[in-house]
Amino acid sequence: MGPRASKLWRMSEASKRVRVRHFAKAKAEGIRITGLTSYDFLTAGIFDRAGVDFLLVGDSAANVVFGYDSTLPVTVDELIPLCRGVVRGASRALVVADLPFGSYEASPDEALHTAIRFMKESGVHAVKLEGGTRSSEHIERIVSAGIPVMGHVGFTPQSEHGLGGHVVQGRGGGKEQLLADALAVQSAGAFAVVIEMVPHDVAKEVSEALDIPTIGIGAGSHTDGQILVWTDLAGLSTDRVPKFVKAYAQLEETLLGAVTQWRKEIDSGDFPGPEHSFSAN
Ligand code: KIV
Repeated sequence: MGPRASKLWRMSEASKRVRVRHFAKAKAEGIRITGLTSYDFLTAGIFDRAGVDFLLVGDSAANVVFGYDSTLPVTVDELIPLCRGVVRGASRALVVADLPFGSYEASPDEALHTAIRFMKESGVHAVKLEGGTRSSEHIERIVSAGIPVMGHVGFTPQSEHGLGGHVVQGRGGGKEQLLADALAVQSAGAFAVVIEMVPHDVAKEVSEALDIPTIGIGAGSHTDGQILVWTDLAGLSTDRVPKFVKAYAQLEETLLGAVTQWRKEIDSGDFPGPEHSFSAN
């Protein structure tokens, strides 16, 4: 059965919190899962109302929120307050926190400690971490404490220097490694796995080989779900936009236009008008 919208998934469960069991159900029924990044209360509420299934407080906050030129510098202490806003804004979507670079790699114990901080201090429902076979023990340890984990294989931005830049993964001999990584994440107990920047036919093969859902970003249309960085989708990126992005709005232009007009109307005295002012009685 091909991917389709399900009444059960989209309508009768629309008011209930999405749980990790729904991810398994979606895969079993061929229903595509949708995810977007979010870094604040307001956008979380909007994406939740639009029916997005999960919100990722991604370490892409490093670029989008803090203006760093890679994801590497962002810290747990910087991400936790963003997670709190997203959790408060989302009443249906499952909220996933990204474990940032340097907060989990040293050992499975460190990974568990960081995951517990996110769960306890922000109220997220799951965590995500990068890496396949190299992260499998870390995933296992977190899962054994009752915390759901989303994996992330293919291009992993936290390893951009090790990978030699923003390079498509899983080409040629890289396909076997990608499959091994995805299977390792599944065996470790992850409930889903992000597959980033891999050829569409390879992503298809991996998706067919796995029992858990694959969530693609730059991985073609055959994965079990899709995720994008929300500012890319909305045309609000100041940075270069990757090939795999489709902008569904031009928010940068809209906002620039609105703010420029506001400033002009202050200059001309047109704003605030009488309708925006209070009278004495
Ligand atoms: O941090 C991020 O935005 C991600 C992507 C998968 C969207 O990890």
